[in-house]
Amino acid sequence: MSFRESGREPRTELTFRFRGQTRRIQGFSPSTTLLDWLRESERATGTKEGCAEGDCGACTIALVRSRSGKLDYAPVNACILLLGQVDGAEILTVEDLAEGERLHPVQQAMVDLHGSQCGFCTPGIVMSLFALYHDGAPATRDSVNEALAGNLCRCTGYRPIVDAALSTIDGLGLDKFQANAAERVAALEELDDRRDLIVGDEARFFAAPASEASLGELYLRHPDAVLLGGATDVGLWITKRFMDLKKIIWLGRIAGFDALEDRASHLRMSAGLTLEAATPFLAAIHPDLGILMQRFGSAQVRASGTVGGSIANGSPIGDLAPALIALGGRVELAKASETRSLALEDFFVAYGKQDRKPSEYVSALIAPKLAPNEAFRAFKVSKRFDEDISAVMSAFKLTLDGRRVVSARIAYGGMAATPKRAAGAEAALAGADLDDPASWASAKAAIAEDFQPLTDMRASAAYRSEVAANLLTRALLEISGGGAPTRLGGLRAAE
Ligand SMILES: Cc1cc2nc3c(=O)[nH]c(=O)nc-3n(C[C@H](O)[C@H](O)[C@H](O)COP(=O)(O)OP(=O)(O)OC[C@H]3O[C@@H](n4cnc5c(N)ncnc54)[C@H](O)[C@@H]3O)c2cc1C
Ligand code: FES
Ligand code: FES
Repeated sequence: MSFRESGREPRTELTFRFRGQTRRIQGFSPSTTLLDWLRESERATGTKEGCAEGDCGACTIALVRSRSGKLDYAPVNACILLLGQVDGAEILTVEDLAEGERLHPVQQAMVDLHGSQCGFCTPGIVMSLFALYHDGAPATRDSVNEALAGNLCRCTGYRPIVDAALSTIDGLGLDKFQANAAERVAALEELDDRRDLIVGDEARFFAAPASEASLGELYLRHPDAVLLGGATDVGLWITKRFMDLKKIIWLGRIAGFDALEDRASHLRMSAGLTLEAATPFLAAIHPDLGILMQRFGSAQVRASGTVGGSIANGSPIGDLAPALIALGGRVELAKASETRSLALEDFFVAYGKQDRKPSEYVSALIAPKLAPNEAFRAFKVSKRFDEDISAVMSAFKLTLDGRRVVSARIAYGGMAATPKRAAGAEAALAGADLDDPASWASAKAAIAEDFQPLTDMRASAAYRSEVAANLLTRALLEISGGGAPTRLGGLRAAE
């Protein structure tokens, strides 16, 4: 099987680094997870399986890639990452860390500060801390909490684990991995052949095109293939729904498909950009987007998940879509050489149905920046602060003329079968006075007409309706600058 138009023969074996060697694998089932390969083929059983859905972090490993000659250590959940996604990378598991009897500094700190009891979570926690060890900055309580948000420990309690991290992560990253970094960069760069990869045959394959031209051609021939971004959704189709995916096209090797263009008026995020890489740029548009992204899954989910996947999945409870819709965002779609662009809200047609033709893929997202007379807020409401799906997600952009609202864009997730604008509330807010809360009342009341949410395990319909209306009030209170405390931080500051 080949990519007919690329002109170059594709590579037919997966190539990556493992245990200091280059490994080449020709035959594997496209749906194989990295965790299954590690534990079942390699007997590398230090990496544990807990939830098998990206939630508990017991399976965390470090996936190392060379980026402009520097090694990037990404903590990822091996349970939902597919084996094919390690192409061109180095896999480091907990077994790699010690040197003979000498433990790695993060392992030794976990021992010294009693960071482990039953030990089931420990390999995953050690690997998350190991990735942070190589992040290049001294650990702070906040950075450790953020790094561990995707690691569940049921017995030790987090204080000794956080203490272990604080005692050893000094930003210097001095260990055997730093000592042989140049050698490992060279080995990884040797793997980067920029050729299309395809393992399998016409009926069953794992493919990783190296260019958008190859993607377009392959997807035209196989419109039934599953496109794969970071696998933070697709991985669960395999581990929870036991789907046997026969044709997978992974988008993670396409040149330029993870690009970010930071223009004066907007960001253009190519679909393969990871959530992690997008975070600082979204935060620069508005701090609420930074907070939102910090609460998007966990470090592991953000390191793998892509902005394109989070829109293409059509989830009515996704966090990014309402935020981008309120900003006035657009989605760019491509099918071979044809491209089109549409307002993001128009992409979501109905539950599970997006405006995407056969063989068409999401190529980029546009996030407009805020003009000086625009105010923005975004709030996520979920049962847990970290690693939780929204019960209600809300985002608001007001265009102001002094203290008067000229127009509003309001979008919610969790309130309908798709991410959706609050058309009635938007209309009712036009002309409202920021200094006159009575003028906000009709917009708040309109939310009940705009949405008839469902009751599910995350929230009741009544709760969702009330919260959605209250979040609008909160946005208006904050934007009006009335001084009423609206956030926990604000409440503490007022005490
Ligand atoms: C533990 C955990 C926590 C999570 N927390 C959150 C959260 O807080 N907020 C939230 O919104 N989501 C959350 N998610 C959901 C998920 O991580 C996100 O939706 C994520 O952004 C999906 O991106 P991905 O690249 O991993 O998509 P994938 O799993 O690779 O793909 C998802 C879907 O999109 C399709 N697809 C991917 N890329 C493209 C493309 N370029 N063009 C067309 N189709 C494409 C795939 O075929 C598939 O149908 C969480 C998931 C997990 C496992
Ligand atoms: S086993 Fe729980 S996150 Fe992978
Ligand atoms: S030590 Fe038992 S789960 Fe963490």
